[in-house]
Amino acid sequence: MAKRLARIAVIGAGGNAREVRWLIDDINSIEPSYEFAGYVVSDPGSPGRYDDRDNIVGAIDELYEGRLAIEAVAIGIGDPAVRYSIGERIAAELPAMAMPQLVHPSVVMDAPSCHLGSGTILSAGAILTVNITVENYAMINRACNIGHEAIVGAGVLINPLASISGGVVIGDRSLIGTSATVLQYVKVGDDATVGAGAVVTKDVSPGTTVVGVPARLKTT
Ligand SMILES: CC(C)(COP(=O)(O)OP(=O)(O)OC[C@H]1O[C@@H](n2cnc3c(N)ncnc32)[C@H](O)[C@@H]1OP(=O)(O)O)[C@@H](O)C(=O)NCCC(=O)NCCS
Repeated sequence: MAKRLARIAVIGAGGNAREVRWLIDDINSIEPSYEFAGYVVSDPGSPGRYDDRDNIVGAIDELYEGRLAIEAVAIGIGDPAVRYSIGERIAAELPAMAMPQLVHPSVVMDAPSCHLGSGTILSAGAILTVNITVENYAMINRACNIGHEAIVGAGVLINPLASISGGVVIGDRSLIGTSATVLQYVKVGDDATVGAGAVVTKDVSPGTTVVGVPARLKTT
């Protein structure tokens, strides 16, 4: 008998969401797991410029009200604070809704020693070594490299090609820009931003932005 596929919606319909849909397609190409139901957005009446309008199936409010026949969701939004708040709300209000871990077939990871929270997304080419924790709704983007014992907080977005060294702790809802490097045992506070291409050598205070090599506080 054919395996029953979970009907999954992607929240958002812009670039990040379409990349998450592509990830789901790639997972299905190796092992059929999901039926893509479409995108769910905040306001289907006024889609964004780059939204995949043809595949928008409803509004987030309809999801919360149980009006969409959706069994699973993936968060396709590139703002860490929004990823976090949507994930927390779904977990609180829709406890039966699955938020699966989506791991691209090309990801290299010591799975037995790593812990992935609910709704985590590991994109193509990511490498995670040993004893790594990725907390709920965090997304590790294409070709990122995450070292031993690193902790990636809830809702965090790590953009492509970033390198997170061993023992690094990234606080909830933080953004790590593309190609940034965070050196070993550095702590990045909650709600912080590390600019694209930065090399972070010292702890980053919560809610602050750092840029450059070596990374310095961005004040303007
Ligand atoms: C750091 C960041 C958050 C700052 O955003 P912002 O506040 O909108 O900054 P602005 O674009 O207004 O630039 C302000 C100044 O900071 C500089 N700056 C911006 N990002 C920088 C970076 N990553 N490294 C060094 N300097 C940077 C700009 O050159 C500008 O300098 P100037 O005033 O001397 O001209 C953003 O530029 C960034 O790096 N985000 C990561 C995005 C990312 O990863 N994108 C990939 C998606 S896949």
